[in-house]
Parts: sequence; C-alpha cells; structure tokens
Amino acid sequence: MREYIGVDLGTSAVKLVLMREDGAVLKTVSREYPLSFPKPGWAEQNPEDWYAAACDGIRELTAAPENAGEIRGLSFGGQMHGLVILDENDRVIRPAILWNDGRTGEETDYLNHVIGEDKLAAYTNNIAFAGFTAPKILWLKKHEPEHFARIRKMMLPKDYLAYRLTGSFVTDVSDASGMLLLDVAHRTWSKEMCDICGISEDILPALHESYEKIGEILPEQAQALGLPAHVIVAAGAGDNAAAAVGTGTVGEGKCNISLGTSGTVFISSDTFRPVANHAVHFFDHADGHYHLMGCMLSAASCNKWWMDEIIGTKDYAAEQAKIGKLGENHVFFLPYLMGERSPHNNPKARGAFVGMTMDTTRADMTQAVLEGVIFGLRDSIEIARKLGISIQSTRICGGGAKSPLWRQMTADIIGIPVEVLTTEEGPGLGGAMLAAVADGVYGSVQKAADRIVRVKETLLPDPELTSRYDEKYRVFDQIYPALKPVYDLL
Ligand code: XUL
Repeated sequence: MREYIGVDLGTSAVKLVLMREDGAVLKTVSREYPLSFPKPGWAEQNPEDWYAAACDGIRELTAAPENAGEIRGLSFGGQMHGLVILDENDRVIRPAILWNDGRTGEETDYLNHVIGEDKLAAYTNNIAFAGFTAPKILWLKKHEPEHFARIRKMMLPKDYLAYRLTGSFVTDVSDASGMLLLDVAHRTWSKEMCDICGISEDILPALHESYEKIGEILPEQAQALGLPAHVIVAAGAGDNAAAAVGTGTVGEGKCNISLGTSGTVFISSDTFRPVANHAVHFFDHADGHYHLMGCMLSAASCNKWWMDEIIGTKDYAAEQAKIGKLGENHVFFLPYLMGERSPHNNPKARGAFVGMTMDTTRADMTQAVLEGVIFGLRDSIEIARKLGISIQSTRICGGGAKSPLWRQMTADIIGIPVEVLTTEEGPGLGGAMLAAVADGVYGSVQKAADRIVRVKETLLPDPELTSRYDEKYRVFDQIYPALKPVYDLL
C-alpha cells in the first residue's frame, strides 16, 4: 500500500506521522529542539535545528518495521508567521523570529495606525498583529539593516524544510496569509504590502495551494533519508490549516480547537467574507477555500509552565486529579505569558492570577490555569458569534487535548459539544493527507477528510456547569481591561 509522511513543524518539537493511504496512522515520532528567548517577549529558533530534527525523524520512520509499504509523498503543517531569511548563498542570515515573538509593537502600531487598518484590510483582509511576518520585516529593516540588505529569499518555517528537501522555493496560501503580504481574496502577493515593507516580490516564494505537488525529494536527500526515488512533496499548510485538514475541519462552518503551544479556534468557510472585527484573522484554507481564526499565544504552554516551572512536576494527570471545584473557582488566571494576539492584540499583556484568598489551594490555581486558557479561547468564539457565525460543535486536537478534564472543560465553558477524534495528531495527519491528495489518492481535501477522519467520542456540555461558567466568563472578561493600564507600566 502507498504511504505518506506528514511533518508537523511545531515550536517545541517536530512531530512526524507515517500514514497509510487509507488513513491508518502506522507510526509517529518526534524530535525536540531548543527555543530561545533572547529578551523578554522575544522568541527565536534556528532553522538548521528544524531541518536536522525533521531529517532525523524521517530516517526513524523509514527504518521502522511499520513502514511495510511504499512511501510516495510527504508534506507539512508548519508553525506560522516565522521569518526565515537566506542570503545569496542560500545561507540562513539570522535565527528565525517566531510567531509568538512580541518585539514588533512599534511596527505593528505603525502598520495599523499610520498606514491604517482600513488600507491593510483592503490589501490583505486582515490587520497587523505583532506575531505576523510583515511587522518583523519592518523591525529587521530598522534594527538590523546589515541583515536586511543581504536578504535574497524570505520564507516561512515549513518552506525552509521544503526548500532544503526539494530545491523548490515555494509556499502555500494558508501559511502565506499570516505574513500580511498576501491578498487573501485573490490568493496573490499584495504589491502594496511589499512596497510598505520595502521588499520586492522576487524574494518571496512562489504561491501554491496546499494540496499541490511542488517537487520531489532530491535524489541525494532521498538516499540519505532512506526514502525511495521520486517521493513527491506537496506545498503543505500553516499548522492550524493542516490541523483542520487532519481533524476534518473542511466545509462551511466547521470548527476545530487546537490546544498546543498556541491555542486556536479555527472556523472553515466556503466563501470569502470581509470581516468587520479584525481581532480574529481571515485567511485562506488548505482545502482551496477560507477560514476564520482566533489565536492565543500561550495555551497548553501555560499549563506546561505552571506544572514544570512553578510547581515542579511532570505528572500533569495526578495534579489535575486534585481539582474539585468545577464552576466554583474564585481564582482567575490570565494566560498572557507571551503577550496576547486574539482578541487583545497586545504584546505587553502578561499573565496574572486574580482572586486568591488564604484558603486558595494549589489545585485551585492549577484549575484556574486550565480555565483561563479556555476563557481566552471563548473570547474568539464570542467574536465569531457576534459576526453571525453559529458554531454547533467543535473538534479538538493538540497536546492539551490529551487531558480528559481539559477537553470536558472546553465543552462546559464554551457550551458546545466537543468531538474527540481517533487521532490527536492534527497537523501531522493533515500534512500526510495533503501529500496523498497531491499524489491523486483522493480527488480533493474534502474527500480525504470524509474518508479518513473518525470521531471517537462526543463530549456534551453539562448545562448546569455551562451556566456557572457563563457567570465566571463575565468576570474573566473584566480582568484584562482592568489590568491593561498596569501592563503599560511593567
Ligand atoms: C497562528 C499561530 C500559531 C502558530 C503555532 O496564527 O501563530 O498557532 O502557528 O505554531
């Protein structure tokens, strides 16, 4: 049988999936790499680390006994927005500036308030957020002009892997949407945005749909990785669009929540719609259509921070088992450990616990962290609801979705059924599915999703808890505006 590799280029690790053409996941492997925070609120990674880790993972998959068929294709879901720049010798000029890096407050303000949100929305159907790529380009031009002058190619994280593996300098429209250089409506680069950023379109990759073949693994690479000749590579997608494919979030009005390092609410849309509230993004989807997305910069990473760094445990489940006050917690947590994107667009926002008393326990605080992340996701859901989008249910994926408590809390706080799938490997599986579509196994992304994605369990919201959480959410909603002036002083 034919097999496909999906590469999920994440922030903490690269996760790879070996999928059989019928959708069965034969094996998953992962490799971690360092993430550096050179200054508070900055985040960088070395593209060479991504490449080495991805190659290592591919080698493990090809050598595995589970690999009994013929590997025919490979594709990606990649962390979005990161700025990767290469010089005339195709060397990486500086570490990549990542999606959760908040150094570009000034450039973001310049784009939104000097160029103006109306113009940005007309060119791209979005406004600027600190994590997007365009403000990073302006930052680089101002603060590292010597690096800026040497740029010959500019690309997104997963596109660097594709370039090294195939020699093709390409990207896909879902990931390109997050650069704020793409005319999302027409799926072309925006000349106006290139001019505003002071770059020429020549240094940008060629645009493709996510499910299109963009080349083959170079022969010497294939040999080194244990791959057969002529393995095709599909353009792939930003990790959220790839996760949407892997969770079957294609077609009008479907929703997926990802509880990864970031937390996202992803709503697919068959038609283009100019949105009135730009606190959420409107991007191209990997299925050839569009999507609406709200993104929190710290989601499962808040829980990881709380468990690993603050209370010092690796046994997350044991810690969560002590939680007993669902819907009654007086402690609130604001999950803004890296600033916040949706809906506040404020790189200066910070994490906060509010409401502790002498009888507050460690379990209450653990619970507040989990609840605070879902309240943050609900902010994006509420914006979608105000835009008239009715969300009937959601799917869920990402590392945080492995926690049964957190999954149920998602249903109770948002007040909709949560569908748990047979695999949580959203972006990796989505990447493999895109490769299978590019290889002609499935006629479309929709057909691949219909055939492959299976719901294992549906978690219904408990009406009693949902109404208690509605009240808590109204309190949560007041805390950020109250603290905002303080953030400006920190
Ligand atoms: C989406 C976003 C994050 C990253 C995480 O806009 O910035 O979800 O893609 O990898």
